[in-house]
Amino acid sequence: MAEIRIRNTEERISGEANVREFLEKQEVLYEHWNPGKLPAELHQKFILNDEEKQQILSTFDEEIKDLAARRGYLTWDIIALSDATPNLDELLKKFEQVHTHTEDEVRAITAGRGIFIIKGTDDVGYFDVELEAGDVISVPEHKPHFFTLMDNRQIVAVRLFIETEGWIAHPFADASFQKA
Ligand SMILES: [Fe+2]
Repeated sequence: MAEIRIRNTEERISGEANVREFLEKQEVLYEHWNPGKLPAELHQKFILNDEEKQQILSTFDEEIKDLAARRGYLTWDIIALSDATPNLDELLKKFEQVHTHTEDEVRAITAGRGIFIIKGTDDVGYFDVELEAGDVISVPEHKPHFFTLMDNRQIVAVRLFIETEGWIAHPFADASFQKA
């Protein structure tokens, strides 16, 4: 289940209801899928062939279509990152810049872990959302954020898009952002 860390205060928020309430106030969508639906052999697999990616999409077909119908997503795919990903360090360096998009960024984690760092309301500042399998998040359009991996450096996620062009990153220069 997702956990929140507020960077200014080091406060942590856990438990589904608390996390959902906090994220709702920050206008970040949070939902949960049952990661146990995935065949056991895919729970810890981070190098995926096309067939395995399709298997993940088929497993969560109902959840994906429900989310898409509610929120207008038209296409979806699978992203898998691990130390086996070519140029992972370079890729992460690129990811770890605060940016915005013209459409929301939605990710459903199906294996592994990841963090979204999001600029919250002025009273909260930047906060981390630590995600694990089953967590579904949508960072609203125009909300400054970035994504990175956690220490295990492994993740598989479903990405959903309205238009793939909407996902282009626009750098957001922010002097108030402290890396930590
Ligand atoms: Fe992004």
